[in-house]
Amino acid sequence: IYGSADAASRAVAEEMARIIRQKQSEGRPAVLGLATGSSPKKVYAELIRMHRQEGLSFRNVITFNLDEYHSLGPDALQSYHRFMREQLFDHIDIDPAKCHIPDGTLPFQEVHHFCQQYEQHINDLGGLDFQLLGIGRNGHIGFNEPGSHVNSRTRLITLDQTTRNDAATEFGGLANVPRKAITLGVRVIMQAKRVVLLAWGEHKAAIVKQAVEGPVTETLPASYLQGHPNVQFVLDESCAASLT
Ligand code: F6R
Repeated sequence: IYGSADAASRAVAEEMARIIRQKQSEGRPAVLGLATGSSPKKVYAELIRMHRQEGLSFRNVITFNLDEYHSLGPDALQSYHRFMREQLFDHIDIDPAKCHIPDGTLPFQEVHHFCQQYEQHINDLGGLDFQLLGIGRNGHIGFNEPGSHVNSRTRLITLDQTTRNDAATEFGGLANVPRKAITLGVRVIMQAKRVVLLAWGEHKAAIVKQAVEGPVTETLPASYLQGHPNVQFVLDESCAASLT
């Protein structure tokens, strides 16, 4: 629990930088799972600052994003491809060929094969060294909505009504919010060597309390993280206010 989201984001960026540098010194890639949305923005800003001012290099970094709306193209205003370019990739020395984000434009019949390959690629690299997460107000991680099994695979999912409502403003109305998305499965997230979940603000306090202190249940996928051997919830004070 940190006094502010700023301080917390700096600490998380430092942890990511440590992993990147450690892997660099071993001559190995750092395999990072990344999230979009408002929660990680300051972490990415801090990583960019470290790149510019402290010479942090991302040349050995390979990234896999959690999710993408189906069927948004990479240049659509709300697409996560665009978000990642604007918030991080365009401002650091990462090789664009090493940045992976689910392809939201695939025809339905090709999605399953794509998802299998996405997971295989992560596994071939030895799994995720670090997974950054946010949490939805319904307890989703990635777009693993309530009802997602702990062993769920990377797949096309129908978005929950809460998720669509929360995205409505960004899309200029509920009717414009996609109904489906591709998400990394819970199983892959649970296999990451380290998981850090970010949550800021009063509006996330109730769901964070349930995820941390309540029962582990498929109705709240973030609660699965209670069973992860190396997980941390990084919160600001207002978000942690309801914790016992
Ligand atoms: C985004 C993602 C989602 C968000 C969650 C919280 O890639 O996977 O699970 O992390 O919806 O979103 P924000 O941070 O906007 O509150």
